[in-house]
Amino acid sequence: MKPPKIVILTGAGISAESGIRTFRASDGLWEEHRIEDVATPEGFERHPELVQRFYNQRRRQLFNPDIQPNAAHIALAKLEQKFGDNVLVVTQNVDNLHERAGTRNLIHMHGELLKVRCNWSGEIYDWTRDVTEQDRCTCCQPPRRLRPHIVWFGEMPLQMERIYQALNECDYFVSIGTSGNVYPAAGFVQEVSPQCKTIEINLEPSQIRSHFADVRVGKASELVPQFVNEIGIAE
Ligand code: NAD
Ligand code: APR
Repeated sequence: MKPPKIVILTGAGISAESGIRTFRASDGLWEEHRIEDVATPEGFERHPELVQRFYNQRRRQLFNPDIQPNAAHIALAKLEQKFGDNVLVVTQNVDNLHERAGTRNLIHMHGELLKVRCNWSGEIYDWTRDVTEQDRCTCCQPPRRLRPHIVWFGEMPLQMERIYQALNECDYFVSIGTSGNVYPAAGFVQEVSPQCKTIEINLEPSQIRSHFADVRVGKASELVPQFVNEIGIAE
């Protein structure tokens, strides 16, 4: 039997139980910070140090030994072990918990905290420490300022062509831990074929729940391993 093609979309909710705050919860990141200040190109032009500080804090968290992949990340890595590249994880998260759990076929559509890029040429650098105002690229002459390799509001998410191709072809589309507030990710469920099985896993039904055939309400750390077991038996 042919292995099923599965696209998994993840959002901040999948990392919540690992200790990384989501954006839109009552204690979420957007309660404390204005999106216009820290997550737009204009905010970076106005206050680069504020923006770098915000992402430096987020980056540092990834080196906190208390923050580890949880059962949901691990279950998705197991799913890839079973079905190989037929499983594609598309994450809106900029943390590295999917890769630490073992997922390899992964798209970071909103960028990665552990990369920065030249604000001039776009060249991408791996980066693990804080970015300071003195840090400059090595690709330009004169050397230019570095910016977080994060897709900000108003910018184009990464690898969209590959994502839409996979959405067109998949047998299962599973959205995990995302509020459905931010496009284009919130529109992915409407891109799949009519035969595709659509499942939402979230702590509460999302903004876009009506587009899913199956809405499962609860913790990702419980419902994702359950889904992975189910599909392992069904397929
Ligand atoms: P929108 O319709 O303006 O679409 C968001 C745009 O941002 C899309 O073009 C999307 O491709 C792009 N984008 C790319 N990467 C992103 C990323 N990492 N995070 C977020 N967006 C990304 O979106 P909207 O949700 O209707 O937002 C409109 C405005 O409303 C935002 O710019 C923001 O100022 C505000 N907003 C506030 C909150 C909040 O919780 N307070 C949440 C969402 C939006
Ligand atoms: N298990 C499952 N779902 C959870 C859990 C959990 N343990 N904890 C929280 N959630 C759910 C919340 O109910 C919420 O619906 O996860 C969702 C997180 O939503 P947001 O904070 O809005 O995060 P996300 O959807 O990833 O945001 C999308 O917006 O600000 C931008 O670029 C940023 O990538 C981000 C994008």
